[in-house]
Amino acid sequence: MSIRETLDHEPRPGVRTFTPRWRTSALTAERMATLFPAVEVPPGPLVAEELFGRVAPLVVEIGSGHGAAAVAYAATHPHVDLITAEVHVPGVARMLAAAEVAGVANLRVWRGDALELLRSGVAPMSLAAVHLFFPDPWPKKKHGKRRFIQQHTLTLLHSRLAPDGVVRIATDHEVYAAHVRDQVAAHGGFEVRVVARPSWRPTDGFEAKGLAAGRRVVDLELRPLASPLDHQM
Ligand SMILES: C[S@@+](CC[C@H](N)C(=O)[O-])C[C@H]1O[C@@H](n2cnc3c(N)ncnc32)[C@H](O)[C@@H]1O
Repeated sequence: MSIRETLDHEPRPGVRTFTPRWRTSALTAERMATLFPAVEVPPGPLVAEELFGRVAPLVVEIGSGHGAAAVAYAATHPHVDLITAEVHVPGVARMLAAAEVAGVANLRVWRGDALELLRSGVAPMSLAAVHLFFPDPWPKKKHGKRRFIQQHTLTLLHSRLAPDGVVRIATDHEVYAAHVRDQVAAHGGFEVRVVARPSWRPTDGFEAKGLAAGRRVVDLELRPLASPLDHQM
């Protein structure tokens, strides 16, 4: 599939960036029942001040998996409020248990599709940062349209970021790093650069798997350029 074929300016009906399949153990069910209600982000427009009980810079992590990066970020950035978006319930439950042990108070959870949170929950120009760490690479060419970074998601991210906001992406798949660069170049709303790996992020989860498999990790930062896209969504 060429880059031209993946320049989707609108979401493709029925195409999702994740596979909603997992088994729910008794431990997961118990953690969700006891820990989730206190941190759940409800559907509808987000009122961050009510959710966190304070005014602070707001960050969203897309696809937090079992949450090692999220818990570490929340613990090392107590002045920031973090919302994680994840569909995979066992991962969310594991993160909630780790967050409880770490005693972080600045973490809330959207259990569902991050696109829905960004579209319907997050206000325009309200995010200090968006984190997308080790997104599903969908390495087969025919699955390119399932990668999270697309023209329409870049437009959505651009609209939700504050003017000095940043999208932080890490991947251990060269094909995904190239995909991001191609999509950003075609989009025109961001400048992209390779940055150092953030020292607060644990080498855990998919990063550890990629390194063990001998793959190189690339960290990218996308910063919005002022453009007519600013107030589109
Ligand atoms: C490869 S895993 C990486 C998990 C974690 N970031 C890490 O580094 O270990 C990608 C995760 O993104 C989640 N995901 C993919 N698309 C998503 C979406 N649109 N909304 C919420 N979660 C999504 C998947 O369920 C999966 O847990």
